[in-house]
Amino acid sequence: MYYINGDFMDTKKFFNEMAKTWDQKEIKDEKWFLNFISKYCNLKVGEKVLDLGCGTGVISKAIYENTKVQVIGVDIASEMIKIARNKLPNEIASFICCDFYELTNMKFDVIICHNAYPHFMDPSLFAKKCYELLNDGGRLIIIHSISRKKIIECHARIKDISRIIKSPQEEAKNFLQYKVLDYFENDNMYLLALEKS
Ligand SMILES: C[S@@+](CC[C@H](N)C(=O)[O-])C[C@H]1O[C@@H](n2cnc3c(N)ncnc32)[C@H](O)[C@@H]1O
Repeated sequence: MYYINGDFMDTKKFFNEMAKTWDQKEIKDEKWFLNFISKYCNLKVGEKVLDLGCGTGVISKAIYENTKVQVIGVDIASEMIKIARNKLPNEIASFICCDFYELTNMKFDVIICHNAYPHFMDPSLFAKKCYELLNDGGRLIIIHSISRKKIIECHARIKDISRIIKSPQEEAKNFLQYKVLDYFENDNMYLLALEKS
């Protein structure tokens, strides 16, 4: 169990607590976003994108501003979603507050999971749900803006709401129904890009 000030924290509670200060702590360099979007997302006009574990909508905003594709964000923490909704008006992006596993009757061309993958504790279940939500040929992009070493360090104090991720090559073994498009990791990034085949 994870506790803050004597209070039990699950994922939802933890990220609701984090929401207020998230953007001060987590603001990324615009150049980093642009590089990620142009190099790894390959988004095309008309595609529908799911920002999975969207938090305050940082990636949704960057995607919309740089590509104008339709973005839908989902997050389990309502306080995160409130901030995301203030960033982008409803006509541009919609933000849904629910557990990702509860999404039904929706299909996406691309699912982007930015800095959120370790919070999905069962990678096989995660792979299966993403598969269900993707159109044929759709892409799942798992990305981190820090190294795996840093991710593991940051998550050391929240072991109950995150798992220790392995190298992208190792994690790819959880996605056997997919074609691996790309993977690598370095001091600034972790990437696993897959295609529903
Ligand atoms: C580390 S934050 C990353 C937020 C955002 N993607 C960013 O890069 O700033 C992880 C987010 O995943 C969300 N999350 C975790 N498990 C979830 C689930 N089962 N369904 C929806 N959102 C979830 C959390 O609430 C949290 O906002």
